[in-house]
Amino acid sequence: MKNNLQIGILGFGTVGSGVLRILKHHEPKLNQVTGVSLKVKKVLVRDMEKNRGSIAEGIELTLDADEIVSDPEIDIVVEVMGSVDDAKKYIKKALVSGKHVVTANKDLIALHGNELVALAKENHCDLYYEASVAGGVPILRTIVDSLASDEIQKVFGIVNGTTNFILSKMTNEGKSYDDALKEAQELGFAESNPTNDVDGIDAARKMVILTRLAYGMNVEVNQIETKGIRNLQQKDIEMARKLGYKIKLIGSAIQIENKISVDVGPILVPNNHPLASVQDENNAVFVVGAAVGETMYYGPGAGELPTATSVVSDVITVAKNIRLGTSGNVFSSYQHETRLAEDTEVFNKYYIAIEMQDKTGQFLALTKLFSQFDIGFDQIIQQPLPSDMSKVVIVTHKINKDQQKKLLTVLKGANEMNLLVCFKVMEGK
Ligand code: NAP
Ligand code: HSE
Repeated sequence: MKNNLQIGILGFGTVGSGVLRILKHHEPKLNQVTGVSLKVKKVLVRDMEKNRGSIAEGIELTLDADEIVSDPEIDIVVEVMGSVDDAKKYIKKALVSGKHVVTANKDLIALHGNELVALAKENHCDLYYEASVAGGVPILRTIVDSLASDEIQKVFGIVNGTTNFILSKMTNEGKSYDDALKEAQELGFAESNPTNDVDGIDAARKMVILTRLAYGMNVEVNQIETKGIRNLQQKDIEMARKLGYKIKLIGSAIQIENKISVDVGPILVPNNHPLASVQDENNAVFVVGAAVGETMYYGPGAGELPTATSVVSDVITVAKNIRLGTSGNVFSSYQHETRLAEDTEVFNKYYIAIEMQDKTGQFLALTKLFSQFDIGFDQIIQQPLPSDMSKVVIVTHKINKDQQKKLLTVLKGANEMNLLVCFKVMEGK
């Protein structure tokens, strides 16, 4: 039985620094709960000259991943470097060399998770990835362990810290989109390429992982209807406020009969819904089970120490498994045939903003257009615009996705009408 376990870390950025800090600052507790001492042997970086502060003192750096993934003395590899191709190559090498792996990389787990899980099993190694979804919120373990007995019906919420940070700053402080994004980047929440954050791709990848664990279903990223917040304007936020809503980027995976509907996009959330009060980089995930009912998990979804907390907790699990001789069991063995719901089966209310000429008969034309698809109005506001134009904002009654898509196609081609935006509307509490 080993008394100490050696760790190799791939990456010394925001999360890597946090992992080193937690391993150092919480060392006595970690030793007690694992029964071994955890030592960092080496950290992979790209740039040896970068100033990494006092936490780097005494830490050996390398530019060569092989010095970690092929080092026979290293027991656990922590991958916090990001990217898909290099990270995948290194993790595969580590697993084949019999090393246990902990990663925060949702891109990799969403795209190649099943392959890596199978490789880990084949090599009797652990592979954990709690930090890949919702940073410091232990949502994956909650779904896999704490709610294992239940039939999950809905998983939805705010799973991207950067976009929630941007939307909070735009809503509460009137900041511009660009300034808020810059701040999120400086604070280390955003991905190295923030396109993935602002276009909803990061959230969609997290929904792939949540769907896999909650429903045992494998939904591909390109099967998830995904919209980001890049084109969202202050006036959309203002209009939502007038109607009693906040705009949030929400990922949702809803069970409909024995099928699933997964999407990501900006949604109008009623002010009285708990998700409306989730600010800054915080995340919040609702999980609704047939037996347990509605549960909510809230906390920091990004950032150095919150994310590192999840990473190091995975390291603890790996260390305990090594001690108990229980390594190599897959994190979740739940699997179910993947069946996507049809558009006609998915119902929501929608917020639709249209610009049109302010002249007699235009409203009648608009009403006819909506009634053509049997779509009724729940709320409606008209605002005058310059040059005899007006902006009309409609919240529809509940309609299915097929009705919504047909309406949008016709609106896009309509004379004298310009579709501005269409967002889903969440129902109140
Ligand atoms: P980051 O700050 O950009 O750090 C990346 C680190 O990896 C840097 O130290 C970089 O080296 C190193 N690196 C990257 N590519 C490399 C390569 N090809 N070879 C050698 N070293 C390489 O990233 P991060 O924010 O810590 O994120 C790391 C991972 O955690 C990502 O998968 C991200 O999605 C995930 N994650 C991040 C957060 C968050 O809040 N930041 C939250 C949850 C999950 P240099 O320092 O020399 O440049
Ligand atoms: N860029 C991600 C976010 C990091 O903002 O949520 C956490 O996964």
